[in-house]
Amino acid sequence: MTFFQVGLRRAAAQLSRPAIVRGQCLRLQKPSFPPSRILKLACAATAARTYSTPSTPSTPSIASQLPKANAQNSTPRDEPASSAKQSSWPEQNPKSVAYWLLGSAVSVFGIVVFGGLTRLTESGLSITEWRPVTGSLPPLSQADWESEFEKYRASPEYKLINPHMDLAEFKKIYFMEWTHRLWGRFIGLTFVIPTVYFVARRRVTPRMARTLVGISALIGFQGFIGWWMVKSGLKDDLFAPGSHPRVSQYRLAAHLATAFVCYSWMLMAGLGVLRTNRALQNPSAAVQAFKKLQSPALKVLRGSVAALTVLIFTTVLSGALVAGLDAGLIYNEFPKMGVGYKPPNSELMDKFYCRKEDGSDLWWRNMLENPSMVQLDHRILAMTTLTAILTLFAYSRTGRLKAAMPKDVRKGVTGLVHLVSLQLALGISTLIYIVPIPLAAAHQAGALALLTGVLVLGQRLRIPKGTLALVQKRLLQSAKRPASH
Ligand code: HEM
Repeated sequence: MTFFQVGLRRAAAQLSRPAIVRGQCLRLQKPSFPPSRILKLACAATAARTYSTPSTPSTPSIASQLPKANAQNSTPRDEPASSAKQSSWPEQNPKSVAYWLLGSAVSVFGIVVFGGLTRLTESGLSITEWRPVTGSLPPLSQADWESEFEKYRASPEYKLINPHMDLAEFKKIYFMEWTHRLWGRFIGLTFVIPTVYFVARRRVTPRMARTLVGISALIGFQGFIGWWMVKSGLKDDLFAPGSHPRVSQYRLAAHLATAFVCYSWMLMAGLGVLRTNRALQNPSAAVQAFKKLQSPALKVLRGSVAALTVLIFTTVLSGALVAGLDAGLIYNEFPKMGVGYKPPNSELMDKFYCRKEDGSDLWWRNMLENPSMVQLDHRILAMTTLTAILTLFAYSRTGRLKAAMPKDVRKGVTGLVHLVSLQLALGISTLIYIVPIPLAAAHQAGALALLTGVLVLGQRLRIPKGTLALVQKRLLQSAKRPASH
């Protein structure tokens, strides 16, 4: 059969050399052309489709130029038309993949909030071992419980903070941490198993396959960071006088950041699939929508939203440091911090936090390890985020941009104003009421909601190159159809 196919291909090469040359271009060239170029071609294809009838002599020429133009360029990075046939990878991801990705993102959202509750109830250090497989079961007998409790009784947290804890209380904190870890395993399995299926059966595009493998690796890495974080709270040096047994704030921030990245990746991948499917359902409408996004007036907005995403992520990281250092338990007022709007400089840049004799680490150690400074940093970053969003909102309602902005982008900007206001209200309430568990957990959820808002807005502003090229291909196919009759 293969021999027969090779023979056919050779014969075709002799009969129609240009066609095969074009095919090879499609296969070999990497896309080096900007979305604007694809858009021009796609618009031309739409025009050809709209105006080309067998009785119109001028239009076939537009349509006939399109395949040439296509050959001069290339196909999308992840969906080459010819290689799709060759390798049997699909050009388009099914909607089911999007729903599964979004479902996984929701699950990650849930575990982030639950992880916050685990920390806030001081349950995180109750399981003193990392047993990825056997740890799936909780202690089942009284003897097992006694043994687990015994291990916990040897930990700094028990000795220094909970020396009066009994087994019944221990069971409560143990179940919190155990559920958190079980949820992590559940996310891992419900992501990795379908990934293996989708990739092995080639049910997704090559690009999506890479994304799924990347997310799977990140989930595994997150499990490892989780344990690395817990380990930092079990170290023997935490028995030292004056030390407070809790996990390292750096590791807590790394754990939170990885969860946020994982969530964002799942969300963006899922939304991207839905967007491509929607565009391909109505290619002409998609071309018009993408054309609108090409407006130069939106360029600054696009850059600002990208910068805002980085700012929000930085604010989130600083929040994790506040949580990790219990810095929300001091200066429980707003906007003042003590008598002024900031603590005295001697307190903010305290030599106590230096580890080097010459004090060369004074600045960064205080920024990351001094609770007063860390709380001030978080306030400043939060206020900067608020100002940036309000400025973006005002800017988006002015002149050229207002007219150029698609409706969903306008709604996205307004949504951000609501989300940041809510997040600020939650943050200030958490501080003023000295970190009550429900408010602190809601504040953490609010951070993810705000990040979701900015990511969705960024996605609405993006012109996806791969989708655009697929839309172009669909339009070319339908433009060619009347000519072939
Ligand atoms: C854009 C605005 C903000 C964002 C994105 C944000 C984000 C975060 C995040 C991600 C955490 C870590 C939560 C955890 O790991 O449990 C946190 C903690 C915290 N934030 Fe914010 N925050 C914002 C504004 C504020 C404001 C305005 C305040 C008050 C002045 C505030 C006070 C706190 C406090 C006290 C904590 C520690 C809570 C705890 O110990 O669980 N935040 N923030």
